[in-house]
Amino acid sequence: MSIAPMPRYPTGFRWGVSTSAHQIEGAVTADGRGPSIWDTFARSPGRISDGSSGEVACDHYHRHGEDVALLAGLGVSAYRFSIAWPRVQPTGAGPANAAGLDFYDRLVDELLAAGVDPVATLYHWDLPQPREDAGGWLHRDTAARFAEYADLTAARLGDRVRLWITLNEPFIHMSLGYGTGEHAPGRTLLFDAFPVAHHQLLGHGLAVAALRARTASPVAIANNYSPVRVLSDRDADRAAAATYEALHNRLCTDPLLGRGYPDLPGLDPSVVHPGDLDTIAAPIDVLGVNYYNPTGVRAAEEGSALPFDLVPLDGYPRTAFDWPVAPDGLHELLGWLRDTYGDALPPIEITESGCAYDDVPDADGQVADPERIAYLDGHLRAVRAAIDDGVDVRGYFVWSLLDNWEWAEGCTKRFGLVHVDYATQTRTPKSSYTWLRDVIAASGDGS
Ligand code: NOJ
Repeated sequence: MSIAPMPRYPTGFRWGVSTSAHQIEGAVTADGRGPSIWDTFARSPGRISDGSSGEVACDHYHRHGEDVALLAGLGVSAYRFSIAWPRVQPTGAGPANAAGLDFYDRLVDELLAAGVDPVATLYHWDLPQPREDAGGWLHRDTAARFAEYADLTAARLGDRVRLWITLNEPFIHMSLGYGTGEHAPGRTLLFDAFPVAHHQLLGHGLAVAALRARTASPVAIANNYSPVRVLSDRDADRAAAATYEALHNRLCTDPLLGRGYPDLPGLDPSVVHPGDLDTIAAPIDVLGVNYYNPTGVRAAEEGSALPFDLVPLDGYPRTAFDWPVAPDGLHELLGWLRDTYGDALPPIEITESGCAYDDVPDADGQVADPERIAYLDGHLRAVRAAIDDGVDVRGYFVWSLLDNWEWAEGCTKRFGLVHVDYATQTRTPKSSYTWLRDVIAASGDGS
């Protein structure tokens, strides 16, 4: 762990933590919530590594007061949470379910009373099941329904949410949910999943317009990025890396920033209708960057279904997910975004950055997580270095406030600054929570 003092950050730098609805809320039938694709997926045997579901998760729906107190104690200026579409529109269409919106109304008021800016993500992968039954994101109509949901939500919360994020990681949702089937809804369409990206982005563009009509707060999208490392000079490996980079890093950013889709084999252009690219390129105020690790890429073995293979990167410590701990990748990524998109790049906020470790309470009930402190130390220094290089980074949100339900990994991967005992719902701040609290308290006036 670094013993050097942490750098300072510009005045007004946004310090936050992130969560998502289905990973923490539980209460999946409360107050008229409808089923989501993750409820269905988790019921299907073998989909979730420990057989758990989001039915209870962190029971945040009933414990939000305690969780807001944890945010206040940490001293963050913002909290990024997501709104569950199936609470607002139980079938994914039609009028708002007022009782579902009441929950977020209360949460937003509690946050504001605690001096924490509410940052709301509209879609963090929990599609209402009836919408999936009607074709889900493969169907163009879902984009229009998403914009209606955005309108209903902003009509209620638009006066108090300080930053809106339309979608979380549309590329990951497309690739794991509809490409490889590791996530809900479990489709295995590989490159034929492209309409899922396009319809999400179209929904984003339509939602930006709906939000602008309801609120003066800034609007963003949160994309996942992974700097690509090619492991040899072979032409085939370089070509594979270029394809992977276009897919992972540019498919959902080039069109947002006015460049249309990158040239990728296997994408069906007929799903892109005249005018769609203009809708998608509606100006955004902030680009949300979710960063976890770089990716090693080489050419695929003969007969492989995809044109690249992903390979482990040597030389880095690893998290419990076996992901490399690579703060240099974050520095590299921020420079890549600036160099690639130039003046078209809006200000950046790191909307997720974090790590999973097998954190266990000791005999006294304390949870020491020095690896997470080292992780955050390194990544925060990387952000400072990028700011020094002239990249406009305005905030950093740790994933996550709480240990939570990590999708296909169930309850087995702990990302929290706060430990959760799922049997008792006891919350125990880890040593990283105290460390970050002190960093935030001493962080200002660095510009
Ligand atoms: C990104 C996703 O947005 C979040 O839901 C997930 O828990 C983290 N990655 C960690 O895998």
